[in-house]
Amino acid sequence: MSNRTLVSEQRKYLVLNVQAARKIARVWLERAHLENVVGFGLPEVDDRYHIWRVPLLNNSSQEKVGEVVIDAYTSLILEDKSTSPQVLEARLLGRTEKARRTSDRPKDTYMLSALRNTIAQGDAEEVLQELPAESVDLIFTSPPYYNARPEYTDYISYEEYLLKIRKILHHCYRVLAEGRFFVMNISPVLIRRANRNQASKRIAVPFDVHRLFIEEGYDFIDDIIWEKPEGAGWATGRGRRFAADRNPLQYKPVPVTEYILVYRKHTEKLIDWNIRAHPDKRLVEESRIGDDYERTNIWRIKPAHDPRHPAVFPLELAERVIRYYSFKGDVVLDPFAGIGTVGKAAVMLGRRFVLIEQNPRYVSIIREEAKSWLGKEACTILTINCPPIKTDDILL
Ligand SMILES: C[S@@+](CC[C@H](N)C(=O)[O-])C[C@H]1O[C@@H](n2cnc3c(N)ncnc32)[C@H](O)[C@@H]1O
Repeated sequence: MSNRTLVSEQRKYLVLNVQAARKIARVWLERAHLENVVGFGLPEVDDRYHIWRVPLLNNSSQEKVGEVVIDAYTSLILEDKSTSPQVLEARLLGRTEKARRTSDRPKDTYMLSALRNTIAQGDAEEVLQELPAESVDLIFTSPPYYNARPEYTDYISYEEYLLKIRKILHHCYRVLAEGRFFVMNISPVLIRRANRNQASKRIAVPFDVHRLFIEEGYDFIDDIIWEKPEGAGWATGRGRRFAADRNPLQYKPVPVTEYILVYRKHTEKLIDWNIRAHPDKRLVEESRIGDDYERTNIWRIKPAHDPRHPAVFPLELAERVIRYYSFKGDVVLDPFAGIGTVGKAAVMLGRRFVLIEQNPRYVSIIREEAKSWLGKEACTILTINCPPIKTDDILL
């Protein structure tokens, strides 16, 4: 028996072998409803680019009609390198494919999204794949905290956590419209010491996540500091030791800030294009911001608390982000929606919302709250993996 290790093992890829590569490609084919007419050739790993190439064959002629390219480290399908389902269909039908490509639409047209208000229950990684490409105009979210406690069974390694965030950034990229913004509220995580002989540790999550944004093709725009009024971070007990002894090296400031990181989906076009090409001049005009806007990148906002959720952000924060980074009528997505603060702010400001949340308890809170945001109109909300909102539940 040979004990030679595979190149994919040496490289510590997530996609280790041809079976795994085929399985990922099959899920992709099923989403495109092409699994009955397209089969696979032999997948090959390319360790110069850290990708797997899975050849796609016409099931009846066995001719190659395209390929699926998979990122070997993350297992994500690289859509821009893979043959699109439209092109595959055209090739299977012997049509010229040029006319069917979405990228052939005139370069300067700007499509208004047809999405309506949506509440979806489930893992954002999966739900995002069901949304149409470029159907969202702004993403504002705060991701789940990294729960770094090996003593709990739901403990995942930090690398796994980052991989999950990366996959969500990847799928968000597809659904975000050209040149539009992804704003993320995120902060370092404090890992408490397990006992008196150990030190507590801070993990600089925003700096690791920044790299993921860049690798997924977003451009960095701004780092805004959300400063909470004095007192907000004192409960962590950080800095108590120094306050008592005053020895150098023991200094530890109490954290009273979080980051609001601003990215833009890459485009060659200037932001000015997003404003000029907007098809509804009235909406652009109505979205203009008055004189009371925030001049600097330090925003002072009181934190919010809600007995129903441990980590809500303040409505005021969501309002500011939505007013500064979207137009009226736009679709605002929160892939980690919690109890739906982004949805409430979006409705108040005349925008539409798409809220994705994994925890059914929070989803039922959002469904209930949406009735107070929208009244009777709440029954027009599209619900995914959860029951529709009925008109007769709504008291006006
Ligand atoms: C920091 S909270 C967001 C709170 C929200 N900003 C608010 O004001 O209510 C993050 C949320 O992400 C949810 N979540 C975690 N993993 C998820 C996933 N893979 N897909 C969708 N939601 C997820 C958690 O249940 C949690 O409610």
